[in-house]
Amino acid sequence: MDEKKVMFIVLLLCFLQQSSAADYNVMQFGAVGDGKTDDTKAFERAWQELCNDVGPSSSLTVPMLNTFLVGPINFQGPCKSPLIHFQILGTIIAPQNPSSWNGCETGAWLLFYKVDGLVIDGGGMIDGRGSVWWTKSSTDIPGEFKCAIPPTALHFESCNGLQLRKLRHRNSPRNHIGLSRCSYSTISYLDIAAPANSPNTDGIDISFSTQVRVHHSIIKTGDDCIALSNGSSQINITSIYCGPGHGISIGSLGINGQYDTVEGIKVRNCTFSGTQNGARIKTWQGGSGHARDITFENILLHNVNNPIIIDQYYCPDGNNCSEKTLAVKVSDIGYKQFVGTSSSRTAINFDCSKNVACTGILLDQINITSTFEGEDTIAYCNNAFGTSSFTRPAASCLTH
Ligand SMILES: *[C@@H]1O[C@H](CO)[C@@H](O)[C@H](O)[C@H]1NC(C)=O
Ligand SMILES: *[C@@H]1O[C@H](CO)[C@@H](O)[C@H](O)[C@H]1NC(C)=O
Ligand SMILES: *[C@@H]1O[C@H](CO)[C@@H](O)[C@H](O)[C@H]1NC(C)=O
Ligand SMILES: *[C@@H]1O[C@H](CO)[C@@H](O)[C@H](O)[C@H]1NC(C)=O
Ligand SMILES: *[C@@H]1O[C@H](CO)[C@@H](O)[C@H](O)[C@H]1NC(C)=O
Repeated sequence: MDEKKVMFIVLLLCFLQQSSAADYNVMQFGAVGDGKTDDTKAFERAWQELCNDVGPSSSLTVPMLNTFLVGPINFQGPCKSPLIHFQILGTIIAPQNPSSWNGCETGAWLLFYKVDGLVIDGGGMIDGRGSVWWTKSSTDIPGEFKCAIPPTALHFESCNGLQLRKLRHRNSPRNHIGLSRCSYSTISYLDIAAPANSPNTDGIDISFSTQVRVHHSIIKTGDDCIALSNGSSQINITSIYCGPGHGISIGSLGINGQYDTVEGIKVRNCTFSGTQNGARIKTWQGGSGHARDITFENILLHNVNNPIIIDQYYCPDGNNCSEKTLAVKVSDIGYKQFVGTSSSRTAINFDCSKNVACTGILLDQINITSTFEGEDTIAYCNNAFGTSSFTRPAASCLTH
């Protein structure tokens, strides 16, 4: 071979090495995928390999037509490649019996920790098989449950540039998806479902995160479809179908006297159907901080119990909430273009702290009628300041 040819081959090999993204499959790491064998170790080994791959991008496939039983896994970063593609074509299921769960100290079943540039997609399913957790609790069988509280199914802690899309999420023991300290991230085209009576099965929970988009997803659960809590800012939520569930909630904020902040939230083009709430802001008495610059726009309501609600006396069953003077300050909250029906008479409910007023509330083009023919709807205000235009029920209780 002449020198030129050798040079060409060397260059070609270099090029192939550079351009071919590593592509792993959990089957290569011993996964069985029969839905019975514990494939946790295979997933862990596959992740190690993926995360240590130094290529420009690396991917891991969970193949179609297989069901993989895995226990709690910590998918630990940081990884070496700037782009990590986790492709879920098949189904991943959790251990069914809570007493057989090992290692859920993190509070999550599938935890991704400090992984930047992560893309998870594939059209497959993540099934937490949480039904046993919903009926039993750790206090029912002391010592037998290895997790103090039911785990979140899929949690992301400390990430940048996460893209989670095109997946089905079912029956989490607790919240389906959690995002904490994750920025510049997008969640889209998800289908999340758990029974209406399953406790604490929020769809998506976000905290300590900024620049996040959630769009084009269907969320049907037993608790909040989406909940934004402390440290959430610059978050756009668009084209979400919610129901059954407890609506899209800011909070709860200010529990145990905490200083909590949420701001820069836009919820647009969403539908609520048969939900306990629509656009909700909930805060505990005695907290501090703020919820501000939040808009809900172009919202469709079908038979929603509290279509528009600010509840600064949030106190769910079983809590003993004594009167407190401090409160999270709620300001600059816009509601525009709401159309549909309310199953409660008080379609608009601004129950603000009597010590810390809600200010800058704007209602515009609201038309919420009663689910029940012949019945009316009303607006209620407690220490709420703002303006309204084209609003039915009339919100004359808002103070200018
Ligand atoms: C949210 O929407 C606003 C207005 O459409 C846009 O300016 C902003 O960049 C968006 N934020 C995110 C995180 O997508
Ligand atoms: C809430 O977030 C703020 C700012 O992000 C932080 O200063 C505060 O400590 C947080 N509160 C709690 C209880 O974590
Ligand atoms: C909301 O829907 C309207 C059409 O009804 C569309 O023009 C607009 O771009 C959508 N907004 C967002 C943020 O997707
Ligand atoms: C609720 O709290 C108040 C004062 O904090 C206390 O006096 C009362 O006994 C408590 N009630 C219950 C049922 O715990
Ligand atoms: C409000 O909705 C009701 C019921 O759908 C409808 O009859 C009415 O015309 C609407 N009003 C306005 C101002 O759009």
